[in-house]
Amino acid sequence: MKSAPQLLTDPFLQLPTDTSVRVVWFTEFTGSKHLVTYGDNFGHTAPANTSQLTRTREDQHSHNGQIYQQPVNREVWRHEALVTGLTPGVRVPYWVTSVREDGESVSSGIFTLTATPKPGTPLKILLTSDHQLKPMTAANLQKVVETVGQVDGVFFAGDLANTPDRASEWFDDNRGAALFPGLQGRAHYEIAKTTYTGGQIIQHAPMFTCIGNHEVMGRFARTRSLDDEFNDPIPRAVAKKLYGEKSLLDHSFNTITYEEIFTLPQSLTGGKTYYAVSFGDVRLVVLYITNTWRTPRLDVEARGRYREAEKDLSNPENWGYGQIIYEAIAAGSQQYNWLATELKSPEFQQARYKVVMFHHPPHTLGDNIVPPYTDPVPMIERDEYGNIQGVRYEYPQSADHIIRDLVPLLEAANVQLVFYGHSHLWNRFISPSGMHFLETSNVGNSYGAAWNGNQRPVPIGYQEDYVAVGDPNGLEPVVPTIAPLLKEDGQPMPYIASNEITVFSIFDTGTGTVTSYRFNTHAPESEVIKFDEFRLIN
Ligand SMILES: [Fe+2]
Repeated sequence: MKSAPQLLTDPFLQLPTDTSVRVVWFTEFTGSKHLVTYGDNFGHTAPANTSQLTRTREDQHSHNGQIYQQPVNREVWRHEALVTGLTPGVRVPYWVTSVREDGESVSSGIFTLTATPKPGTPLKILLTSDHQLKPMTAANLQKVVETVGQVDGVFFAGDLANTPDRASEWFDDNRGAALFPGLQGRAHYEIAKTTYTGGQIIQHAPMFTCIGNHEVMGRFARTRSLDDEFNDPIPRAVAKKLYGEKSLLDHSFNTITYEEIFTLPQSLTGGKTYYAVSFGDVRLVVLYITNTWRTPRLDVEARGRYREAEKDLSNPENWGYGQIIYEAIAAGSQQYNWLATELKSPEFQQARYKVVMFHHPPHTLGDNIVPPYTDPVPMIERDEYGNIQGVRYEYPQSADHIIRDLVPLLEAANVQLVFYGHSHLWNRFISPSGMHFLETSNVGNSYGAAWNGNQRPVPIGYQEDYVAVGDPNGLEPVVPTIAPLLKEDGQPMPYIASNEITVFSIFDTGTGTVTSYRFNTHAPESEVIKFDEFRLIN
C-alpha cells in the first residue's frame, strides 16, 4: 500500500512587509502543486514556488533511522508562497497543501499570519539562539509559549543546527530535537520523565536569523563525513592560492544551506548574510560576525585555535588557519561601511528601538570570547634549512575587531541593545554609556562560565595574555534584578550557565523591557521564574 504524503515541516513565516508575508514549508517529494489557503473563509489561495535544496545530505553520523557509510544527498523540496493583500494588525488564518505527483495531497493544520507590524504596535519578541539540537531546547520553547503565549516575532542570534548540510538536523533527527520541530511544537524530547514538544512559534511569527559558526560549512566534499566537512573551512585568500578562482565557495566555506532555507531581508553588499529590517518599533540590524570554533588544545595532534597539527606542518592544504573570521567587520571592510551607512539612515535613526544582533559575544563570561576576535597572526618556526617546525597563532587583544571598531560605532549611533549568543549561557552587561549587552544562549545546554572559581582554557607560553576569568573586554556582569540564582554561600550569581535550568528572554516593545525567565527542566512541576528585567531607554 502506498503511504500517505507527509509534510517535512509545518509552514513558517518569513519576510513580512506592510501588505504581505511569505509562507515557507518543506517536503520530500517534488509534488505537482503546492499552495497556501487563507482568509476569513479560507476564500483565497496563493501558489508556491518550489525549489530543491542543493546541499542537504545525510551521513554516518545522521540520526534519521537510516544507515549511511558516507555523505549522500538527501532530496528536500522547499515551497514558498507570497501571501498579499494583508492589513497590519489583522491576523488571518491559513493552512498549506502539497499535492504529490500521484495526486495524493496533504495539508497542514491551521495557523495565522499577518503583515509586518506598524510602528506603535506593542510586540513580544522572543530572543533566542544556539538551539543545535541540545537537550533543553524543546522544554525551553514549550515554556516560552506556556508563559507568554504567541510571540509576534523571533530574533535568533545564530547556531540553529550543528552541521548545517545535514538535513535531519533541521527537519527530523529522530532523537527529537531538530530545529523546525522545536520551533513548531513537534519536537519529542524527554527530560526527567517529561516529554517536551517545543512550541508552535514560527507558524505564526516571522523569524529573523543571523549566521553563527554553525551555519557555515567548510570545503565541499573533501572529507569523509559532514562533521569533518563542517570543520574544514579555510580562508578565501588561502583557497584562491591553493585552488585558483574556480568555485571559491566550494573550496573555502559557504552558507549555502542556510541561505536556501531562509528568506530574509537583504543588503546590497551582504545579501542575506547581513541586513537591516524594521519590525514595529524596532530597527533590527543583523550582522555576520562569527569565526571558526577550533579546539584550545595545544597537543601535537591539535589543528586548533592556537596551532597546527604536527603531522600536517608540511602540508598547508590540511591546515586549519586558526579561528577564521568569515566576513570582515573591521573598520573599512564592506560590512563595516554598510553598517555605518545603515546607522545614518532615517529608518535606523527614527526607530524607537535600535537593536543589533550578531553571533559572537562582545562581552561574556563564556569560553568563546577568548581568543580576541581578530585575524589569527601566524608565527611560523623554521629550522636552519627552512623546514617548518611549528605553526602557532596569536590573537592580539588590541586588534579585537568587535571591541576596537564595531562597539564604538554602535555607541555613537545610540544603539540600545546588542544581542548575541555563542557561549551557551545567560549573562548581560551595560557599557558606561548605557548600551545593553545580552547573551541569552543558555537554551539547550551550557559549557559553563569563567567565573566563581572556573577558568577558561588559555595557552601557556604565548605572547598574548589571554584572559582566563571574567569578561576580557572589561565589563562586570549585571546581577539579575528579580531572582538571581544563588551560590552555596547565598550570594547572587550574575549569570546562568546550567544544563538543568534553561533560559529565555522576551523583548516587549510596548514597555521597552527585556525580561528573562528560567525553568528547571529537572523539576518538571516547577514554575517558570521571571528572574531579570531591564528597560531600554529611548
Ligand atoms: Fe556558536
